[in-house]
Amino acid sequence: MSTTEQKPDKKFYLETFGCQMNVHDSEKVIGTLVHEGYAQVDTVEEADLVLYNTCSIRDKAEQKVFNRLSDYKKYKKQGKKFGVLGCVAQQEGEKIFERAPYVSLVAGSASYRNLPQMLVQLEAGNQRVTGLDDRQTDQTFDTEFTARTNKHRGYITIIEGCDKFCAYCVVPYTRGKERSRTVESVLSEAQRMADAGFTDIQLLGQNVNSYKDPSGTLTFAGLLKAVASVPGIRRVRFTTSHPRDFTRDIVEAIESTPTLCDHVHLPVQSGSSKVLKAMLREYTREQYLERVAWMRASKRHISISTDIIVGFPGETPEDFEETITLLEEVQFDAVFAFKYSPRPNTPAIRMQDSIPEEEKSKRLAVLLERQRQIQSSTYQKHLGEVAQVMVEGRNEAKAQLFGRHSQNKTVNFTTSALIHPAIGSYVDVRITKALPNSLVGEMIV
Ligand code: SAH
Ligand code: SF4
Ligand code: F3S
Repeated sequence: MSTTEQKPDKKFYLETFGCQMNVHDSEKVIGTLVHEGYAQVDTVEEADLVLYNTCSIRDKAEQKVFNRLSDYKKYKKQGKKFGVLGCVAQQEGEKIFERAPYVSLVAGSASYRNLPQMLVQLEAGNQRVTGLDDRQTDQTFDTEFTARTNKHRGYITIIEGCDKFCAYCVVPYTRGKERSRTVESVLSEAQRMADAGFTDIQLLGQNVNSYKDPSGTLTFAGLLKAVASVPGIRRVRFTTSHPRDFTRDIVEAIESTPTLCDHVHLPVQSGSSKVLKAMLREYTREQYLERVAWMRASKRHISISTDIIVGFPGETPEDFEETITLLEEVQFDAVFAFKYSPRPNTPAIRMQDSIPEEEKSKRLAVLLERQRQIQSSTYQKHLGEVAQVMVEGRNEAKAQLFGRHSQNKTVNFTTSALIHPAIGSYVDVRITKALPNSLVGEMIV
């Protein structure tokens, strides 16, 4: 069944947890549901179908969905249907039906292309509709119905799944195997977005740079350049890059292509080669630093951000100190740091979770404080610079506008009262102040 006519009792509410991949999957799920005649509503109360697109990367994230479900079980009596999508769905599978008996749909991300059929089963009153266990699938979830909320900046998935199996991580078990979209479908989506007025594209994948063109024509760096040359596109970003697959031609592509943004998110996880080995990351501290050196040698100033896990089993104070010295050496522009959380199915769950919770918290606090100091100085480098900023909104209370630097940093800026740059436009801003997490400036006219 495929109709754009809205059915009267088909209102859905969708809440999303987790990473950018989940946010973008939700845009595709919303587009698909709307195409199937459903209408999106803003509250659980108004909805006939309540969906959660879930994350299980750490225990806290997983608990959120079960808290939501227990909050809302009262609605089951009113005949509302509940569905769990995403990584908790794939991880817990049919166990969710036992734990939350009012749930009637459980589907992992590798099954979303079958959503229309699953919706038909739900409508027919099936109490246990599933889309699970698709690690073998070669298919990607491509749809022309993506419901993007931002009109100027949007995501495009280029690769789904993960084959890396880092010792701590659920993703290879929750998102299926690594599979890349064709160059043609990526470029035609980019072109459609450009035609619709988008100027800023972010290419997505758990490991975006593990991209393998199914036709074998383009490398990942080649695809970056191809997307960057789609007429109308002014900025192309990509995330997340895996250090093992981070090749020099990516840096060369950034250097030679002004449309490619000067920012790379390259999660290191630890500064200790011993811990990296236990994590099964397949690179050493030295190899990571070599990739950083390629970027630092570039004519463009490439901003680097990272993810770090503290308290992985066996991480000694000396190993942790190596992470701190790595921060000092690299001078990241942003660090997303997490306490190690043991996860089901992963090899690390069998290792003794040897670092006490208080020690993990202490290491995290030390790391974040050190990084705050580093950013207090790295952001100063922008002082006096004239930066191109994409306008994202207005902060009425502070009489300021805010927007995004090509390095993905937030810029708050003032302008003359007579000038009202449109959301989505690009303006030049002179940077007058640098804070640890944002820049402040004045628009130049
Ligand atoms: N594919 C990306 C990361 C995706 S998950 C990469 O390989 O870099 C996002 C981040 O969550 C990871 O970079 C890691 O820092 C963190 N993470 C993953 N599993 C975790 C766990 N079990 N405990 C704590 N943090 C974890
Ligand atoms: Fe997880 Fe490692 Fe895959 Fe990243 S590369 S998603 S950390 S298994
Ligand atoms: Fe979470 Fe799944 Fe993303 S576990 S971080 S939603 S890939």
